[in-house]
Amino acid sequence: RANSDETNYRPNFHFTPKNNWMNDPNGLFYADGIYHLYFQYWPYGNTWGPMHWGHATSKDLVKWEEQPIALYPDRFGYIFSGSAAYDAQNTSGFGENGQAPAVAIFTYHDPVKEKEGKIDVESQGLAYSLDKGQTWTKYDQGNPVIKNPGVHDFRDPKVNRDWVNNRWILVIAAQDRAQFYTTDNLKDWEYLSDFGVGIGAHGGVWECPDFFPLKVKGTNEVKWVLIQSLNPGGANGGSGTQYFIGDFDGTNFTLDKTFAQKLDREKAVWIDYGRDNYAGVTWGGTPDKEYKRYFIGWMSNWDYANVVPTQTWRGTNTTVRELELVKDGNGYRLNTVPIKNLQNYITKTDVEKKISVKQNTVLIPEGKTDLTQAEISLTLKNLKKETYTLMLSNTDGDELHFGFNNASGEFFIDRSKSSNSTSFHKFTAAVSKAKLPGIKKKVKLRFLLDKTSIEIFYNDGEMAFTEIFYTKSPFTSLSIEGGQKFDVENLTVNQLNF
Ligand code: FRU
Repeated sequence: RANSDETNYRPNFHFTPKNNWMNDPNGLFYADGIYHLYFQYWPYGNTWGPMHWGHATSKDLVKWEEQPIALYPDRFGYIFSGSAAYDAQNTSGFGENGQAPAVAIFTYHDPVKEKEGKIDVESQGLAYSLDKGQTWTKYDQGNPVIKNPGVHDFRDPKVNRDWVNNRWILVIAAQDRAQFYTTDNLKDWEYLSDFGVGIGAHGGVWECPDFFPLKVKGTNEVKWVLIQSLNPGGANGGSGTQYFIGDFDGTNFTLDKTFAQKLDREKAVWIDYGRDNYAGVTWGGTPDKEYKRYFIGWMSNWDYANVVPTQTWRGTNTTVRELELVKDGNGYRLNTVPIKNLQNYITKTDVEKKISVKQNTVLIPEGKTDLTQAEISLTLKNLKKETYTLMLSNTDGDELHFGFNNASGEFFIDRSKSSNSTSFHKFTAAVSKAKLPGIKKKVKLRFLLDKTSIEIFYNDGEMAFTEIFYTKSPFTSLSIEGGQKFDVENLTVNQLNF
C-alpha cells in the first residue's frame, strides 16, 4: 500500500509532507534567499488531529525540502493557521545581537474550552525566531496577543507589511466577516474595522483571509485585495476561496465600484473554480517587494480531505502562482499564473503549430510525454457554439474530462471516471462548473499535470480550475473533441523533470 502510494500518488512537484496529515499553508515568509512554508500538521496520523506547524523551505518556490516541526501545541491549545513576517527592522524588539527576528502570529484553539462549550475557544498567539524560521520561541509573557472578542470562530491571522501606510496590517476571520488590525511592533494590535457581512459568499464560516495592496499590472495604481476562504459554500461545493478588490483608507476597506457590480451579478468571485484549492495565502516581502504576490493553496477540500486514498501522507499543496491585478473594460480582477521558475525544469518542448480537428483527435499519443510532470498549453480557434472537451486517459480505463460548453458559456471538469476509489462519494459525484465571461471564438488553455492533479489556467490566468484525482495508474495520453471543425494552434508540450 505504502509503495503504491509512492509510485502512483506521491506528486513530482507539489509539496507533500513525507508522512501524515497536512492542511492549510501557514507562516509564509522570505528571508535571505529562502522561502518558508509552514503548514497545518498532525505528525502522528493521516487524518486531521491536534494541530502543529510543519515546515518546508525552498529557494525557488518550486522545489521544497521538509524541515523539523516548527510549532507544537501548548497550554493555550492547538496551533491553528496563521502567518509570519520577517521583521528586518526589528520593529518587534525580539531581535538580539543584530539578528532580525521572524515573527509568527497564529491561532490558539483550546480543546478544553471547546469541550466545555465556551465561546472564547480561539485567540491569537505569537512566536519569534532568531534563526530565520528554523526554531521558534513562544511569546509566553504576552500571549495571547489578540484576545477573543466573543466570537467562536476567530482565527487565521495574516500579517502583511502595509507599504502604503508604513506599518503592519493584520486580517483575521471572525465567523462571517474579516477584521482588520494594525500595529507598529507586531505585539500590540489595534482593531480597525470589519468587512464582509452580507457581501460575497457566506455558505460557511469565513477562514484564512489575506489582505494586501497590489499595483495594477502595467500602472502605478494601487488597489487592495482581500482573499477569503470559506467552508462550506465554495464555488463547486465544500471549501472555496473568494476574493474582493477595493480601496483601503487606513481604517476601512471598501469595495471598488466595478467589483461591487460584478458581485451583484456573480454573487462571489473565486480565486479558483475547481474544488481543490483551499485556504490559500500569499508571500509578500520577497526580492520582488511589493510588486509581486505569490499564492499557494492546500489542494484539497474538507468534503473529502480526510478520506482521499493515500495512506503514508494526506494533503498536497497547489503549485505556487503569481497573482496579477488586472484592469480592463470590465473593471479589476486577479489573474493567477504559475510561478515562472517552473521554466527551469523544462527538459523538452514539443510544439505543433496547427492541428485541424474534425472528430476526436489525439494530441499526445500514449506514452509520448510523461504526463505526471508536464505543462501543456494550446489555443483553440474558430470555435462555434458547441462543447469542447479535452480528455486525459490511461490504459486502465481512467479518464478525466475538462473543457467548456461554448453555447451555455460554462467551463467544466468531470472527474467521475478519474478515481480509483468509490468510497468517497462527494469526490466523484458532481461535475464542477464555472460560468465563463461570454461565448468565445478563441480560447487559450494552459495546464499543469502531476500524478494526482490538474491545474488549469484559462486565457492567461483569468480563471483557474484546480482538481485532484486518484487513478489506477497515471494518465498517459491526451485527446480533444469538438463538434464541427475547429483548430488547435501552438500546442506546446513541456516535459518537466524535477
Ligand atoms: C481551514 C481551517 C482553519 C483552521 C485550520 C485548522 O482549513 O479550518 O480555519 O485554522 O483549518 O486546522
